[in-house]
Amino acid sequence: MFLKNTWYVAAWGHEIGRSLTPVTILGEKIVLYRTEAGEPAALEDACPHRKLPLSMGRLKGDDVECGYHGLTFDCTGTCTRVPGAERVPHVARVRSYPVAERYGLLWIWMGEAARADTDLIFQVEHWDDPSWGTTRGDSMDVACNYLYMTDNLLDPSHVAWVHQTSFASAACEETRLETTVADDGVTVWRWMPDHEPAPFYKPFLKFSGNCDRKQHYEVRYPSHAIIKAIIVPANTGGEGKPLHEDVFLMDSYNFMTPIDEKTTRYFWFQMRNFAPGDEAISKAFRRSVRGAFEEDKAVLEAVQIGMDNKVTRNLDLKIDKGPIRFRQRVAALIAAENAEAPTAVAAE
Ligand code: FES
Ligand SMILES: [Fe+2]
Repeated sequence: MFLKNTWYVAAWGHEIGRSLTPVTILGEKIVLYRTEAGEPAALEDACPHRKLPLSMGRLKGDDVECGYHGLTFDCTGTCTRVPGAERVPHVARVRSYPVAERYGLLWIWMGEAARADTDLIFQVEHWDDPSWGTTRGDSMDVACNYLYMTDNLLDPSHVAWVHQTSFASAACEETRLETTVADDGVTVWRWMPDHEPAPFYKPFLKFSGNCDRKQHYEVRYPSHAIIKAIIVPANTGGEGKPLHEDVFLMDSYNFMTPIDEKTTRYFWFQMRNFAPGDEAISKAFRRSVRGAFEEDKAVLEAVQIGMDNKVTRNLDLKIDKGPIRFRQRVAALIAAENAEAPTAVAAE
């Protein structure tokens, strides 16, 4: 089950051009393309005649022509041509999905079109700040339910065991986690005092010696995360304290789009409060982050298989408080959406 009345990332903007690109989102087959003016479009990927995927057809200007008998649809999903017929049957239409482009990503609204408000797209805090650098984004498919990924992104403790060569430091094993629940999501966080910086961060710090580090793991409903790393010289950090002038800040944006119940497309990019134009740093970040996320992927895909095939009960720990609260709220939001308009989307 998925939340529908929300924006998901459909693709990186550069992946979609003047060709028909099939994607699956929340189990729905969709074809993405751009109009001649470069505007993104998203249509149901099934011709109403014999359900051939429209992505197997061809683009004719801004319209899509089915590759079997030539039914043609404009980017609103309206059928504009039925070859050999005198009139277009009014049922000959496909669903079109609201799409918007922001942060280099194509966003798609999977619920009732009338509720698609672009102000609801996830806000990226420092996007327009010229003093911040951006690491070009990336993506991968992970063979697990998206909620195993939100579990992972509400779990700062896992870095101690999963990311030993990058984000881990000794302090990651024992420092207690705090959980904050808000209207739009859950944050699990902690300050880890006076320890040697983790290998990933060390080369980029403006200071030497030990550090205080905050892990801020925030996931907003249903599946968008901002993970903040805040690193300051030892004994200068702590909740509510002003940040030291040499602070290292890295905001990691993570957008999970369910393909189906057991596959998730994972999109991400990072922003940092230093070296905005430094391509070498961006490349190093991109490589290291991808490497770390490959480590998560290996674990999460094995967790999906393990949980699917369990023969004894699994247990929950204190560290699972944030992820469990998150899952409960997502389930309640989905239940409320289904109760409110069980047929609204299907009837469109
Ligand atoms: S299947 Fe598309 S026109 Fe026949
Ligand atoms: Fe991880």
